[in-house]
Amino acid sequence: MPHPRVVIIGASTGMGHALARLFLSEGYPTAMLARHVEPMHALTAQYAHVPHAVAQIDICRVSTVPTILQHTITRLEGMDILVHCAGYGLVNPHLDYAVEEGMIETNIKGFTAVMDWAFQYFLQQQKGHLVAITSVAGIRGDRHAPAYFASKAYQISYLQALHHKAVKSGLPIVVTDIRPGFVNTKPMEGKRFWMCSTETAAAHIFKAIRQRKRLAYITPRWRWVALAMRIAPYWVYEKVM
Ligand SMILES: NC(=O)c1ccc[n+]([C@@H]2O[C@H](COP(=O)([O-])OP(=O)(O)OC[C@H]3O[C@@H](n4cnc5c(N)ncnc54)[C@H](OP(=O)(O)O)[C@@H]3O)[C@@H](O)[C@H]2O)c1
Repeated sequence: MPHPRVVIIGASTGMGHALARLFLSEGYPTAMLARHVEPMHALTAQYAHVPHAVAQIDICRVSTVPTILQHTITRLEGMDILVHCAGYGLVNPHLDYAVEEGMIETNIKGFTAVMDWAFQYFLQQQKGHLVAITSVAGIRGDRHAPAYFASKAYQISYLQALHHKAVKSGLPIVVTDIRPGFVNTKPMEGKRFWMCSTETAAAHIFKAIRQRKRLAYITPRWRWVALAMRIAPYWVYEKVM
């Protein structure tokens, strides 16, 4: 049986890049998209024998998203799995609106444009697997990075809605929410609590996708932090965070 065809958005660096490397090394036809194309061309050159496509996309330019995705999928000759890794987070202690706006544009508007288009594509195809990287940050608000935590809560809720739609459709469409804790990507430089490498994160994400999981914490022990964040009384949470 041929490998599923995978489209990864946000594949130029970080978890998306490491995940693309894994898929290509396992022989999955893979499309990589992001704003910076050079790192993606460099990676696909190492796997020239595996079907692949590279395309430039800025998900904040929402009106261009459908055309770019359609064109890329045509080059890949179809799509079975879409993995959305594009996004970012900044601390914003002074509530600078321009900082918040950037995250709203990318993590909410761009995310929604990609999710909506991909879900419709899978509905038309009558099957598919939609995967997005959210974050443990989406579980409860935080004073250091209000828009980041709130945008991740939005993503988690949106994926729950799409999962519900998939179930009601009766079609084999799977929606997977990937919730990392700390992963050692460029924006996260420096040592943090229970931090893992991008390669370790990608290996766990790869496994969760193959198992068609509904939800996966990266690394799995972060589910205990998530549980504590969810059930801690306000006064404990406010003291610790
Ligand atoms: N690192 C962590 O500890 C951590 C923890 C929890 C959740 N996350 C989430 O994981 C996701 C992946 O981040 P990462 O940690 O792997 O960081 P990263 O190395 O910064 O990767 C982010 C990717 O998104 C792409 N991207 C950003 N804005 C984009 C846009 N407007 N259009 C298209 N692509 C865009 C970037 O490529 P270009 O710049 O080339 O466009 C890059 O490929 C993010 O949603 C992040 O919030 C990260």
